[in-house]
Amino acid sequence: MNPFWATCLILSSLLEGTRGRVLYPLPSKEHKHKQPLQTSRPYNIAHRGSNGEIPEETTDAYKRAIEEGADFIETDILATKDGELICFHDVTLDDTTDIANHTEFSDRKRTYQVQGFNVTGFFVGKVRQRYPFRDQQYNGKFSIITFEEYIAIALDANRVVGIYPEIKNPVFINQHVKWPNGERFEDKFIELLQKYGYGGAYMSAKWLKKPVFIQSFAPTSLIYISNKMDSPKILLIDDFSMATQDTNQSYWEITSDSYFEYIREYVVGIGPWKDTIVPPLNNYLTAPSDLVYRAHAHNLQVHPYTYRNENSFLHFDFRQDPYEEYEYWIKTIGVDGLFTDFTGSLHRYQKCASGILR
Ligand SMILES: *[C@@H]1O[C@H](CO)[C@@H](O)[C@H](O)[C@H]1NC(C)=O
Ligand SMILES: *[C@@H]1O[C@H](CO)[C@@H](O)[C@H](O)[C@H]1NC(C)=O
Ligand SMILES: *[C@@H]1O[C@H](CO)[C@@H](O)[C@H](O)[C@H]1NC(C)=O
Repeated sequence: MNPFWATCLILSSLLEGTRGRVLYPLPSKEHKHKQPLQTSRPYNIAHRGSNGEIPEETTDAYKRAIEEGADFIETDILATKDGELICFHDVTLDDTTDIANHTEFSDRKRTYQVQGFNVTGFFVGKVRQRYPFRDQQYNGKFSIITFEEYIAIALDANRVVGIYPEIKNPVFINQHVKWPNGERFEDKFIELLQKYGYGGAYMSAKWLKKPVFIQSFAPTSLIYISNKMDSPKILLIDDFSMATQDTNQSYWEITSDSYFEYIREYVVGIGPWKDTIVPPLNNYLTAPSDLVYRAHAHNLQVHPYTYRNENSFLHFDFRQDPYEEYEYWIKTIGVDGLFTDFTGSLHRYQKCASGILR
C-alpha cells in the first residue's frame, strides 16, 4: 500500500507461476469449536502476512502470522490478464521476485500505463524478500498464491482468523482485463468471497464466523460492492496530496467532515497512512492532526498503516523500541486496528499491556 507504484499489475503469463505446482488445498479442516475472533483490543492486521520475517503474501508468511496471533491476514488482490485473482502487491514482479534470473521470460517484459506512468516490468516468478536488511533465506522458495488459496489458509486456521483483502488498482485492472458478460473486477472479487461463505454486516453472527474487511483506495469500487455485499469496508487514505485513481479527488478532500458524512453510508472505517495522522518532521513526531477524532465522531474506525520494527522505520521519539510505538498509537492516538509487518511483536505488546504476560 504505497503510492502509485504500489498499485497493480497484470500478466498473461503469471499463472505459469501457479500452474504446474501443487495448490494449497481447499479448506478441509473442520474445527468444531474455534476460538472466536478477539474484539476487545485494536485489531492486529498482519500486513501481507508476517512479511517482516518471510517474503510477503506467501503461504508461509500467512501461516506464520496466524501462529503469531494475527486477528486478520491482509493481502492485495490483482488480476492476471486472463482473469485469475492473485495475491500480489506491486505493479511489476521486479522488486519482489527472482524474475531477473529467468532469461526464458525476457520476451515477456511489458510496459503498461499505470495512473499516467509507464511502468515496464516482468510478470512471472518466485517471491523474494523486498528489503535487503530482512532475512533473505526464503528467496525463491515460495510462489505467488491465488485469492482462493489465501482464503483457504484463513479458513483452515484452528481459531477464527479474518481476511482483509484489498481490491488493488481496480481502474487499471478493469481497463486491461476483459471480463465475461460485462462483469468487472469487483464482481469476480465478490463471487469468490461469497463462494466461501463470507458476508454479513460488521459484528453480525455471520461476520464473526468468517470475518472480512474489504479495503480499497478507490471509493467508487467500495460503493459498487456495497450494492451487492454488506461486508464491512475500509476506505484507504493515501498521502493527502495524492489523487484517487477513480474520482480524481485529493485524499485531503475525501477526509473532510462532509465527505465522511457521505462515505459512512458505505464504509465502517478508514485506513490512513500513519503520517497523515501524525506528520513527522526530521524523523520526530509532530502534533497529531484531528483525523482520528473526526473519523470517530462519524462513527468510523481507524486502521492506520504500516508498523515496522526496524529502526529505519521508527521515529526517534520511540528510541528504537517498537513497543513504544504501539503504545503511543493505541493509548495516545486511540486507533482501532494496526497494519503491521511484525504481527508477533504487536501481539506480545498487546498481551503485556493487558496483563496476560505479567
Ligand atoms: C540471480 O542469481 C544470482 C546468482 O545465482 C544470485 O546471486 C541473485 O541473487 C539472483 N537474483 C535474483 C533477483 O534472484
Ligand atoms: C507511455 O507510452 C506510450 C506508448 O509508447 C506513450 O504514447 C505515452 O505518451 C507514454 N506515457 C507517459 C506518461 O510517458
Ligand atoms: C485531476 O485533477 C487535477 C487537479 O484538479 C487536474 O489537473 C487533472 O487534469 C485531473 N485529471 C483527470 C484525469 O481528470
